[in-house]
Amino acid sequence: MEGKRSQRTAAKPDWYETGLEHVWLPYAQMKTMRPPLAVARTQGCRIELADGRELIDGIASWWTACHGYNHPHIHTAVERQLAQMPHVMFAGLVHEQALTLGRRLAALLPGDLDRVFFSDSGSVATEVAMKMAVQFWLNRGMRGRKKFVAFSGSYHGDTTGAMAVCDPDGGMHALFHGLLPEHFVIELPQDDESVGALERLLERHAGEIAGIIVEPLVQGAGGMRFHDGEVLRRLRTAADRYDLLLIFDEIFTGFGRTGSMFSCEAARAIPDIITLSKALTGGTLPLAATVARQKVFDAFWSDNPQHALMHGPTYMANALACAAANASLDLFEREPRLRQIADISAALVRGLAPCRGLPGVKDVRVRGAIGVVELDRIDDLDGLRARFVEEGVFIRPFGSIVYLTPAFTIAPEDLAELTNAVVFVLRGH
Ligand SMILES: Cc1ncc(COP(=O)(O)O)c(C=O)c1O
Repeated sequence: MEGKRSQRTAAKPDWYETGLEHVWLPYAQMKTMRPPLAVARTQGCRIELADGRELIDGIASWWTACHGYNHPHIHTAVERQLAQMPHVMFAGLVHEQALTLGRRLAALLPGDLDRVFFSDSGSVATEVAMKMAVQFWLNRGMRGRKKFVAFSGSYHGDTTGAMAVCDPDGGMHALFHGLLPEHFVIELPQDDESVGALERLLERHAGEIAGIIVEPLVQGAGGMRFHDGEVLRRLRTAADRYDLLLIFDEIFTGFGRTGSMFSCEAARAIPDIITLSKALTGGTLPLAATVARQKVFDAFWSDNPQHALMHGPTYMANALACAAANASLDLFEREPRLRQIADISAALVRGLAPCRGLPGVKDVRVRGAIGVVELDRIDDLDGLRARFVEEGVFIRPFGSIVYLTPAFTIAPEDLAELTNAVVFVLRGH
């Protein structure tokens, strides 16, 4: 892409004018929303708009594009795979990219998280994890264990099973309150009171519970809230004590985002099931994985056909997506991603520090390559988003949160432009 960003606002392209009224956009009141930006191409950490403007991307497409957009190594791997076999069904047939990826993920993940079930989105990975957990008990002859313990501030996806373990009040699915299966949603065990509440709940209801599901270290879409590894170790101990399965949703936190390859490593707590997606393919193609420990897999290993996991998304283990994921893992191996993340972390701390003390700013926090400025409230989200675009950056606040989750390959100058834009815009907010 050439040139710096400009203020050009040319006429919208034809495809935009004729197509926009035929698509339904996510998380948007279609009647009142501001028109979305038309994107022509993406490269590195830049989004080039159809009118020629260029934005520095602070979000990396919902945290997926961890190596920047259009990385040549991933590009070449996908092209090579496209020429050979874009897709083949994954039942009765297997292929090199999926089996290689399964082996590599098992090797990367701690403990005996060794058995990978592929799907095509994070929400489906959550569904699969929940289904695995419930069937784990069914296969052992226990029908009553179908509920989950989840936590305030949690977000696990938009499909109905996943919605039911999101925060029912603070979360985005509050409208469905009372209509979804009911689980136990409590505070993360961070202090005496919440630890006691967890204990009492498990004491009373363990026999109804299949598992505990949590986003380790950072609850993302529920408000970019951070907690310590100790909370996760406590959950591990509780799960062992009451014989429950522990599920870590690392769809957001996996692949370096919180500072180590997986948050469970940093927390020194190994879940029984882990879900991965987002940065798995470096933001190139949709793919997700639900990875189980040996003991979970063993509960399905039987002469009884009914003990099989009856799940199989049509595009599971798509060969192009698996090729992208293998190429993305190559980059984690070959390039100094964890060091880059540590540098980003330090730059976020420095760059966002001036937000502290600004009127309306409640908190400024950084973990790994996640920078957060929490405000008392944001009255005009769309207006704030538009202000960032005027400053030449793509930053998409939600709730009362302004956050940065840039690509790990972002240049220090670009990162400084992002943090400067946050400080500048919030000063005038
Ligand atoms: C922690 C977590 N779980 C699940 C999901 C759902 O993933 P998807 O949007 O791919 O369905 C998300 C998406 O933001 C997420 O952050």
